[in-house]
Amino acid sequence: MKEALKCYTEDPFDYGPVDSVLAKYKDQKGATIPILQAVQDEYGYLPYQALERIAKVLKVPFSRIFGVATFFAQFHLQPRGENIIRVCLGTACHVRGGAKIVEKLQEILQLDVGGTTADRKFTLESVACIGACGLAPVMMINNDTFGRLTTQKLAGIIENYGKETE
Ligand code: FES
Repeated sequence: MKEALKCYTEDPFDYGPVDSVLAKYKDQKGATIPILQAVQDEYGYLPYQALERIAKVLKVPFSRIFGVATFFAQFHLQPRGENIIRVCLGTACHVRGGAKIVEKLQEILQLDVGGTTADRKFTLESVACIGACGLAPVMMINNDTFGRLTTQKLAGIIENYGKETE
């Protein structure tokens, strides 16, 4: 696990952001989750080195910090893209072809669900329902919602977020 994560971190690693977060919370007990949230806000994810630093400064075992970081879905241990695509696979979207939408997005972006493009422009995720079932099948890109999707519409939508076409 350690090696797999390390390949995603920067070298040399910039400890500045994690150190300033730790300084801000230095007098607060039980602040592990707010610290992790603040560190993730700084880096966009939780780099392995930052987790090591947090464990060291809080004087707790690394496994405890790592356990919290992996337990909550809000935390990400790998860099994410500038644009987060969340494609809905809830029942209404599934019935209306959500799986085909995911397949097409995977083909366009050359990614599996959960992956990030090499240029870090896009991360592809799936969600259970985004509350727009009447527009199924649906996806969100960042805070924008796209409904009544067809596989033909996808390339054009993605291009508007900086995907270069061949
Ligand atoms: S099931 Fe997709 S928005 Fe509700």
